Amino acid sequence: MKQRVFVTRKIPDEGLRMITETFDTTVWPSDKPPSAKEIIQNAEDCEGLVTLLSDPVGRDVIQMLPKLRVIAQYAVGYDNIDVTFATEKKIIVTNTPGVLTETTADLAWALIMAATRRIVEADRYIRNGKWNVAWGPELLLGSDIFGATLGIIGMGRIGYAVAQRASGFNMKILFHTRSENEYTKEIELRAEGTRVDLQTLLRESDIISLHIPLTSETYHLLGEREFERMKSGAIIVNTSRGSVIDEEALFKALETEHLGAAGLDVFNQEPLQKNSPLRNLPNVILTPHIGSASVKTRAIMGTMCARNLIAALHGEKPPNFVNPEVFE
Ligand code: DGY
Repeated sequence: MKQRVFVTRKIPDEGLRMITETFDTTVWPSDKPPSAKEIIQNAEDCEGLVTLLSDPVGRDVIQMLPKLRVIAQYAVGYDNIDVTFATEKKIIVTNTPGVLTETTADLAWALIMAATRRIVEADRYIRNGKWNVAWGPELLLGSDIFGATLGIIGMGRIGYAVAQRASGFNMKILFHTRSENEYTKEIELRAEGTRVDLQTLLRESDIISLHIPLTSETYHLLGEREFERMKSGAIIVNTSRGSVIDEEALFKALETEHLGAAGLDVFNQEPLQKNSPLRNLPNVILTPHIGSASVKTRAIMGTMCARNLIAALHGEKPPNFVNPEVFE
C-alpha cells in the first residue's frame, strides 16, 4: 500500500507529479491556505506533509498527526513549523535551501533600485495623468545607488548574493551578522565588505537590506530606536520575514520622512491587512512575498521538495533537512 501524503497547496507540476506518482496524495484544492484544523483533518492518516510558509504547523497540529514522519517544506524558511517539537517526535523536517538564493537577491535589488529611484511613484505619476510638463528639474528626485553605503543585515547565502551584485555600483558594504560562516569569511577575504555591529551599520548605511531568518532573537530586530539611529533619508528593503521589523515603528519613520523609502516583500501579517497604513504611503513599495517567484526557481523548489519527501519516506537521509538530531 502506498504511503499517504497531504500537500497543502498545488506546487509546480514536476514536483507535484513526483509526489503523486509515488504516494497516495491529497492536494488542498484552494488557493487559500488550510487552517490548522483543516491540516489535521486532511493529514491525520498521513506519513508525509508538504507545507508552505503560510501553513501553521505548530505543536497543536503535529501532536494530532500520529503517523507523520516527514514535513517537507516548500521554502527555505521554516519559522511556521515547530521544529523542536517535530524533532522530539522524530519527524524529519526538510526545506529547499540554496536554489532560491539568486532569485531572492534579484528581488532585493529590484526593490533597492525601485525605492531609491522612485520607480513605482514615477509609473503612477504618468498613469494618473500628472505628467503635463516635459521635463522637471526637481521632478521625482531620488537618491544615488552608485557610491552609496549598503548595509546588509544577515550574511548568509542571500546576503552574500546581494553583496556580490553591488560590485558594479562602487558601493561600500557593511554587514552585520551574529556568527561567522563561509560567506562572512569569503566577503572579508575578498575585502568586499566590512563586518560591523548593528549600531554602526544603522548609523552609516544609506541603504539597508535584511537577510535574516525569523527567530525569537530576530523578532522586531528593527524598531523605533533602530529607525531613529538610521540616516535621514535612508532606504530599507526587507525580503526576509516581516516580523524582523516592527511595522508600526517603520510606518512612523516613513510617514515622517525620516526614512526616505522602503521596499517590502514580507510583512508581520500576510496577506497585508486591507487597512494597513503602509498601503497609503507613497514612499513604500509593496510586493506580495515574491522573493523566490521565478518560474525556474519555483519549479526547482518543487522537485527539491519532492526529492526530500521521497527520500525521507523511503527511509533514506533526504538531501536537505533542518533537524539532524532525528538521525542520531
Ligand atoms: C522562503 O523560501 O523562505 C521564501 O521566503 C519563499 O520562497
